[in-house]
Amino acid sequence: MSTAEVVDFAQAASAASAASAASAAGTAGTANAAGASDSVAAKSASDYFSVAGLNAFYGDSYIVQDVSFDVNEGEIIALLGRNGAGKTSTLRAIARADQPELRSGQILLQGQPVHEMAAYQASLAGVALVPEDRRIIPGLTVEENLDLAVIAGERGWEYERIYSLFPRLKERRKQEGTTLSGGEQQMLAIGRALAKDLKLLLLDEPYEGLAPVVRQDIEKALLEVREAGITTIIVEQNAVAALKISDRAIILDTGEVAFKGSAKEVLDDEALRHEYLAI
Ligand SMILES: Nc1ncnc2c1ncn2[C@@H]1O[C@H](COP(=O)(O)OP(=O)(O)O)[C@@H](O)[C@H]1O
Ligand SMILES: [Mg+2]
Repeated sequence: MSTAEVVDFAQAASAASAASAASAAGTAGTANAAGASDSVAAKSASDYFSVAGLNAFYGDSYIVQDVSFDVNEGEIIALLGRNGAGKTSTLRAIARADQPELRSGQILLQGQPVHEMAAYQASLAGVALVPEDRRIIPGLTVEENLDLAVIAGERGWEYERIYSLFPRLKERRKQEGTTLSGGEQQMLAIGRALAKDLKLLLLDEPYEGLAPVVRQDIEKALLEVREAGITTIIVEQNAVAALKISDRAIILDTGEVAFKGSAKEVLDDEALRHEYLAI
């Protein structure tokens, strides 16, 4: 990770950052162009979390195209699709990352207008993105990585609870985070999200590069997280593994929603899986 990214992360973790506040003032309210369709979408959407008519761009490239879905409290939703379908872009748009740029659409988390927020505000509102590269902060121990996560905002799970979910983190809590195995770094990245008062956990490829036995540890933990009432959207190339722990699935194809239904429907529909997931 570059120094700039470390700084970026630290700023996202700190609501006190004047630089973030200034950038928030510049970006708030830029995603309000959806207009009259907002109220229609809002009426039919889940009270817990919904996105309606999301349109997001990288420069001139129109990537997230009119994406709408809703999520009930306590669900695990699998967000699937082939490589390049727009899954990461959709998660980043929801977490209010600078790129892709959200040009229109509505993101509501328990009625809070996330589409009007900067990234650090979305984080304080309870949106926790665990990115594909996990972003463990170099030079900090496991526990210091947790400490950094809770600098700003309301506290979530106590460290002991995180350590009982991931006992390997407890054993390694004084070890530098970047020296952990891939699976342990994923556990730390999830633990760091849980240490904050989160309302929506967004996981981008959490199983990537992990041996099946390590993946199973994480699956078990994610089911415990659901038992605790936390709502999760999981993006995974390993669609079957994601569907196994998910209640419902959304499939993206070239940036658009191609399917919404139960996880079981996808597992049972070979033609659908073949068409959109290549499995
Ligand atoms: N930073 C970027 N700049 C320009 N295009 C991008 C960028 N990131 C991703 N894309 C493009 O957006 C599309 C969707 O990418 P992504 O959301 O990463 O897909 P997925 O996560 O489903 O594999 C792809 O065509 C990809 O090339
Ligand atoms: Mg991706």
